[in-house]
Amino acid sequence: MIRFEKVSKAYVSGTYAVRSLDLEIEQGELIVLVGPSGCGKTTTLKMINRLIEPDSGQIFIKGRNIQEINPAILRRQIGYVIQQIGLFPHMTIAQNVGLVMKLLGKSPREREKRVNELLEMVGFDPEVYRNRYPRELSGGQQQRIGVLRALAADPEIILMDEPFGALDPITREQLQDELKSLQNNLRKTIVFVTHDMDEAIKLADRIVVMREGKVVQIGTPEELLRNPADDFVRDFIGKKRLFRNPEEVFIGDIMLEKPVTGNMEMGAAEAFQRMQKHQVNSLLIVDERGALKGILTARGVQKAIQAASRQKASELMEPVAETVCPEETVLTATAIMARSKYGLLPVVDEQGLLKGLLTNASMINTLVDVLWPVEDNGTGEEGKNGASNLVEFMDNVS
Ligand SMILES: Nc1ncnc2c1ncn2[C@@H]1O[C@H](COP(=O)(O)OP(=O)(O)OP(=O)(O)O)[C@@H](O)[C@H]1O
Ligand SMILES: [Mg+2]
Repeated sequence: MIRFEKVSKAYVSGTYAVRSLDLEIEQGELIVLVGPSGCGKTTTLKMINRLIEPDSGQIFIKGRNIQEINPAILRRQIGYVIQQIGLFPHMTIAQNVGLVMKLLGKSPREREKRVNELLEMVGFDPEVYRNRYPRELSGGQQQRIGVLRALAADPEIILMDEPFGALDPITREQLQDELKSLQNNLRKTIVFVTHDMDEAIKLADRIVVMREGKVVQIGTPEELLRNPADDFVRDFIGKKRLFRNPEEVFIGDIMLEKPVTGNMEMGAAEAFQRMQKHQVNSLLIVDERGALKGILTARGVQKAIQAASRQKASELMEPVAETVCPEETVLTATAIMARSKYGLLPVVDEQGLLKGLLTNASMINTLVDVLWPVEDNGTGEEGKNGASNLVEFMDNVS
């Protein structure tokens, strides 16, 4: 759909903003450009609608060299959403959304119909909102209108330059969700720029990591998390976000360290009491050394109580078919757990001493924490000055 061939741009001679960039963007994909400030994301984006002209190299849209397309015509076919919203303050919501259609010469009736349709699509009642001015909306609402404005003329391509950067985190997440569901229906080709790796992971079909005007890695979010190309990508993703291979997580790291145990001499009533107290449905029976001897289930205990049996735990317990040791990996544990009768897996050391326990539930919880820990990486988004954005949008449509 969009193809960059050896595209370079230097604002100042000798220092490249974008350097010999090759990139192919498929139809209907949402591609996210990420990378540190100044790495050339915005430059790359603006070359697609010819707000910036490359010094060398070529860009093709649907096989056509964009140098051969009149910039004004090109831009009207490409939606554009910028940070800081950039709605025109003196125009109503309806006028803002309908602007590009007007420039494209659509009739007032056509525009009204489309504007209403779009407003309804994101849950704005046209009756209420059509004639309001941007200042009468919240930041999040304004940015929604910004997105609608880009969609209005039904372009195949939409460029979004940090569109949600200025919003508070909650509104930002809402807009991300909305964009995702819009995209599920519309399947536009979207080029989205962000600093925020979480945003990229959430939205992208593919992520393009850029550095100093070059592409360092392109891949699906999963590919990037799993196989970062180099240390730069690894650092940029953030160590904590990186996928840890289950082969590298040890049972000792995630096991419950104090499983509920019982001793060999215990009677059924006592065992039952203990299970109730700890809210478990089995006890791991250990000898005086702490060596695992068997497992006593609630079922076994109930049977003994019903039969008024005076049998001890040593007689009531069942042998433990499978155990693991702390040095084994989670991968091994998962496989064994899958065939475990009790949904739990005792962890013992070489001497047979009980060290811990894995249960289905604890394993899933801990795994999620270990493999995908929540990280506040404090990437303070630099708030950008939006003053130039309005001008930029004006440039884009006029
Ligand atoms: N008009 C300009 N004149 C001179 N240099 C520029 C101009 N615009 C951008 N640059 C430089 O080109 C490089 C790439 O800029 P660009 O705006 O593409 O980066 P970016 O990745 O979008 O950064 P950010 O994340 O901060 O928005 C930077 O080093 C920047 O300083
Ligand atoms: Mg930028």
